[in-house]
Amino acid sequence: MPIRTMRTDDLPQVLGIQRELAFQDWNEKQFTSEINASYALCVVYEEANGHILGYAVFHLMGPDSELLSIATAATAQRKGIGTELLQAGLERLDFAAGDKMFLEVREGNAKARAFYERHGFKAYGNRERYYSDGETAILYRKDQ
Ligand SMILES: CC(C)(COP(=O)(O)OP(=O)(O)OC[C@H]1O[C@@H](n2cnc3c(N)ncnc32)[C@H](O)[C@@H]1OP(=O)(O)O)[C@@H](O)C(=O)NCCC(=O)NCCS
Repeated sequence: MPIRTMRTDDLPQVLGIQRELAFQDWNEKQFTSEINASYALCVVYEEANGHILGYAVFHLMGPDSELLSIATAATAQRKGIGTELLQAGLERLDFAAGDKMFLEVREGNAKARAFYERHGFKAYGNRERYYSDGETAILYRKDQ
């Protein structure tokens, strides 16, 4: 699986994917602190030529975890890369019986919601006007 831990020298490509998809606006400092945090797992999907096609950031909180960010470059979507990133995270976090993974997503992000639902996440609530533009966040969790 062409997935490895994210490094700071990946950030120009990671920020490029984030900019292209315009779904989040973390800056380089925020990604760097995630890379360096003991409770965070940051992974990238890298082609043999060094080209990064996707990334994901997870937090481990005791037996539970949170998926903070997952993205596949626009031209590489619907080819299973998001699935590989999620599966790599679940494996590396030792997601096991009784564990839960949480996330929140914009109500109108149909692609991501379909992706999460495909992977067994269930919506369990929402936070109205959670995002700065007033959009509601849908809360999802996956139980192992
Ligand atoms: C969500 C995202 C990471 C999925 O990545 P991906 O690499 O395209 O996902 P996969 O190819 O592994 O898709 C797996 C399954 O998810 C579902 N899915 C993914 N994209 C979908 C879409 N556009 N419409 C409907 N279902 C979709 C499908 O069930 C798909 O399986 P299929 O292709 O066999 O039908 C990608 O759409 C993305 O980067 N979106 C923009 C960033 C974002 O919104 N991230 C989430 C918020 S943090």
